[in-house]
Amino acid sequence: IEKNFQPRPLVGKKVIVTAGGTKEAIDPVRYIGNRSSGKMGLAMAKVARDLGADVTLITTVDTTLGGINLIKVQTAAELMTQIQSVFPESDVLVMAAAVADFKPINVAEQKIKKNDDEDIFTIKLTKNPDILKTVAATKTNQFVVGFAAETQHLLENAEKKLASKNADVILANNVAQSGAGFGVDTNRMTLLRKNKQPESWPLMSKIDVAKKFWDFYLNR
Ligand code: CTP
Ligand code: CA
Repeated sequence: IEKNFQPRPLVGKKVIVTAGGTKEAIDPVRYIGNRSSGKMGLAMAKVARDLGADVTLITTVDTTLGGINLIKVQTAAELMTQIQSVFPESDVLVMAAAVADFKPINVAEQKIKKNDDEDIFTIKLTKNPDILKTVAATKTNQFVVGFAAETQHLLENAEKKLASKNADVILANNVAQSGAGFGVDTNRMTLLRKNKQPESWPLMSKIDVAKKFWDFYLNR
């Protein structure tokens, strides 16, 4: 028996993970972003890789993860295009990216100058497509995992997302809670599935959340 034998139960599985917040341009120097660090998605990708999966990570975050196919994107539109190009051949989609719900209607070609007589500046936004919902609507055998970032009514809101987005699983968390969510290394997640009781996990490192998720996936 090999000394450092590592079971690789995800060998042969094609996994797509999205991570980080999208950046929606306002002009050549500014964008609308959000507080997502991408850490949860990166952890999902790393653990899947270590378990033997063929991982494609589509992300807005600068990272150099070995053994992973990296695709760098900025906007929700780019994220959607890249997911759609690999989704049909994949087995699992883990949608951890924090997609901007809205983007500026027009991107100014030149840097916007402030105006001496106007103290209020307005940017008109238009809704981005719901990527998860759009992609999951085309699924054949793929296992689709969404996230739900909430600050209140966690279960109620996450149940709605599970149903409306056609996801197999929603991993929900309260991003207003200390020690969980944006920027930190820990998360307290609740896993939701159709026709099953929600499962609440204790506060764990994001790597442990990812291990627990892939363990759930393999034993579901
Ligand atoms: N998502 C997506 N495309 C969007 C918005 C969200 O694919 N335009 C995905 C996220 O990646 C996540 C899930 O949908 O996996 C839930 O995202 P969240 O922001 O919590 O929910 P929304 O449906 O955007 O609803 P709201 O922000 O109003 O709570
Ligand atoms: Ca949202």
